[in-house]
Amino acid sequence: MAEGEGDWSYSSNSRRQEIVIRETKPMIENAIKEVYTALLPKTMIIADLGCSAGPNTLMFISSVIHVIADQTKTSGGGPMELQFFLNDLPGTDFNQLFQLIQNFKKLGTTDETAHVPPLYYISGLPDSYYNKLFPRESVHFFHSSYCLHWRSQQPEGLEAWRETYLNEDNIYITKTTTPLVVKKYQERFYKDFSLFLKLRYVELVYGGQMVLVFCGRKDEDVYNGDLNQLFWIGCKIVAKSCVEVEKEKVESFNLPVYGPSVAEVRDVVMESHLFNINHIKLFEHNWDPFDDSEGDEVEDSARSSTNVTKLIRSLLKSLVACHFGETILEPLFKEFMYLVAKHLEKEKTKFAIIALCLKKEYPRVQKVDLGYKHLK
Ligand SMILES: C[S@@+](CC[C@H](N)C(=O)[O-])C[C@H]1O[C@@H](n2cnc3c(N)ncnc32)[C@H](O)[C@@H]1O
Repeated sequence: MAEGEGDWSYSSNSRRQEIVIRETKPMIENAIKEVYTALLPKTMIIADLGCSAGPNTLMFISSVIHVIADQTKTSGGGPMELQFFLNDLPGTDFNQLFQLIQNFKKLGTTDETAHVPPLYYISGLPDSYYNKLFPRESVHFFHSSYCLHWRSQQPEGLEAWRETYLNEDNIYITKTTTPLVVKKYQERFYKDFSLFLKLRYVELVYGGQMVLVFCGRKDEDVYNGDLNQLFWIGCKIVAKSCVEVEKEKVESFNLPVYGPSVAEVRDVVMESHLFNINHIKLFEHNWDPFDDSEGDEVEDSARSSTNVTKLIRSLLKSLVACHFGETILEPLFKEFMYLVAKHLEKEKTKFAIIALCLKKEYPRVQKVDLGYKHLK
């Protein structure tokens, strides 16, 4: 997702994520209000983790500015200043992002109902959110949308053993994935998500909150995941059939993603003993980012598969090109589009999204061992 412009870019293909931000807006606004009224800070530090180089992060910034403008007006509190940090991996097109920010600033962000617009500042923060990003107890609010299903790396230990890779022709968990491989995916999720929680706990002020939104799984059965198998099987079949790629290249490709169930997410949070869960919910969206209909029928499977392919290509392009080379992209996604259309003719499939709001409460008597010295 490094390139910010063009037909296959993330910013041109992020409608699904935009709808998700709209859907979680009440959760975000409520959390911001609670943090503001509980702490009444003069300066609020807010970070959007995995912001990408598209317009969605600006929608988030705009909601926060509006909420704070309303709050300062109704509470009669003095002027406020907001410091936003926009974080993503260093390869992200921050130039494109900062051009969008300039246009956003020119447009203005407050309406007539908000008479006391807070001053705000926006900075970029290129790094992985699996690293330390901020000084201790300095951040009031973290937001992350459509990111935390990405793992920090592919599960360990899937390497070749007796000349075959453990996950063989699969690139994610499918019906033919062995329980051992599933366990490795689950362990990777557990390690990454617990590390993320520990890091953010240290960086949040007491009373601070975070809203995290990511792809998950509706069904408890890990083999029946909503990060849908067809995508991943499709990619691999296509890789094999379209281009002369060595078996080893195909078998060693595994997506560093995991779509957890609500129960799995809740377990990691509870086991961390770090946060209170204010809210947790799961909602669903059609695969096709432009199909907002509720029914079970896909109106035009060819059109929907084009939309789905654009979305998935914008997300996976760099990973696929890095592993197989650029030349595979055209034939692979052409075949992928065909397979998705075939699938949609039979079934209208949905993505499951998990949204949760976590709060860092004031410490109880017993101190929690964060194992901070072990964090990178
Ligand atoms: C699907 S995009 C979502 C972007 C944006 N939040 C939105 O809602 O439109 C996922 C983003 O997460 C970023 N990302 C993935 N792993 C990351 C990590 N370890 N640290 C920081 N960003 C990461 C990717 O680079 C990508 O820009």
